[in-house]
Amino acid sequence: MDRKRVLILGLETSCDETAAAVVENGSRILSNVISSQVELHARFGGVVPEIASRRHLELINSLIDEALETAGVGTSDLQAVAVSYGPGLVGALLVGVATAKALAYACRLPLVAVNHLEAHLYANFLVEGRPNPSLPAVGLIVSGGHTELVLLKRPGEYMPLGRTRDDAAGEAFDKVARALGLGYPGGPAIDRLAARGNPDYFHFPRAFLDGESPYEFSFSGLKSAVINHLHQLRQKGEEIPLADLAASFQSAVVEVLVEKTVAAAREHKVGSVFLSGGVAANSSLRRVMEERIKTQLPGVKLYYPPPELCTDNAAMIAAAAYHHYRKGRFAALDLNAVPQLPLNA
Ligand code: KG4
Ligand code: ZN
Repeated sequence: MDRKRVLILGLETSCDETAAAVVENGSRILSNVISSQVELHARFGGVVPEIASRRHLELINSLIDEALETAGVGTSDLQAVAVSYGPGLVGALLVGVATAKALAYACRLPLVAVNHLEAHLYANFLVEGRPNPSLPAVGLIVSGGHTELVLLKRPGEYMPLGRTRDDAAGEAFDKVARALGLGYPGGPAIDRLAARGNPDYFHFPRAFLDGESPYEFSFSGLKSAVINHLHQLRQKGEEIPLADLAASFQSAVVEVLVEKTVAAAREHKVGSVFLSGGVAANSSLRRVMEERIKTQLPGVKLYYPPPELCTDNAAMIAAAAYHHYRKGRFAALDLNAVPQLPLNA
């Protein structure tokens, strides 16, 4: 297949963001429309699956219209329709999958099935004019639902190195934020508050799981330690140093994420490290990872997407789809949602 102009419409409905985007050649964003349901779910402290699916259904068609209009293209200009088919909430994923299949059939376009986790990694390819990052790379995907360390050998070829045994990193941020009374989603609130706090004020436990499973993660012990400490302070009637608590919690999460990512990059002798997923927007994670790679792995390049491409979006779906398109890897119209889809499926 030659490198002609390939326009792909991407759809994303795996959790609480409804999104549609048009991307050219896997790197140039022509439109990237997102409708977040955060406010709808905020009063429940987390995503309510039935509400998410219903809202996706209400929004998806108008978001597709808006994405095409903003990009200045019609369906006849597209080369493919791409959709994330897992992992995620089954009812939510089904809205995107059914819509993409209907569009592909009606417009006679090939359908590309994209793994949502793979797409998070490809958010790092969405920089127009910059050469693509070199592979192999180590990727850290940290979001509300996932904490995965992977080796990207070639486009479409992944080796999972480790994942969380319990809470995802973003989930820990959200739960600690809730205990601190900071609302949902908690990650950005903790990030802001921690900037005014002392990260060494409290020493919370870090689960390195050395030896047995060096690339696995565990955040539930840390989360419980922070929440228990908070309760003790409240019981004693002491003033709660919220910013110091936030900063000390955040530094424990960041230290484990950075240590393991750097160790994996060293072991696998990669030239690039990718951060992706909502937690990759965390300012401390970016800063510490940058410093540690600079001093410990000279020559290795760190990539992270701008904050709006860290969290769920459809541009990353279209970017990942481009590599499948070029290899002619298309899905049949009986494509189904796969809520537990692993990365190397
Ligand atoms: O990738 P994403 O939008 O959705 C999932 O696929 O889960 O990630 C959302 C998660 C939430 O847990 C949110 O608290 C976290 O990313 N997050 C952050 C930051 N911004 C978003 N966590 C820490 N620091 C941030 N700045
Ligand atoms: Zn995600």
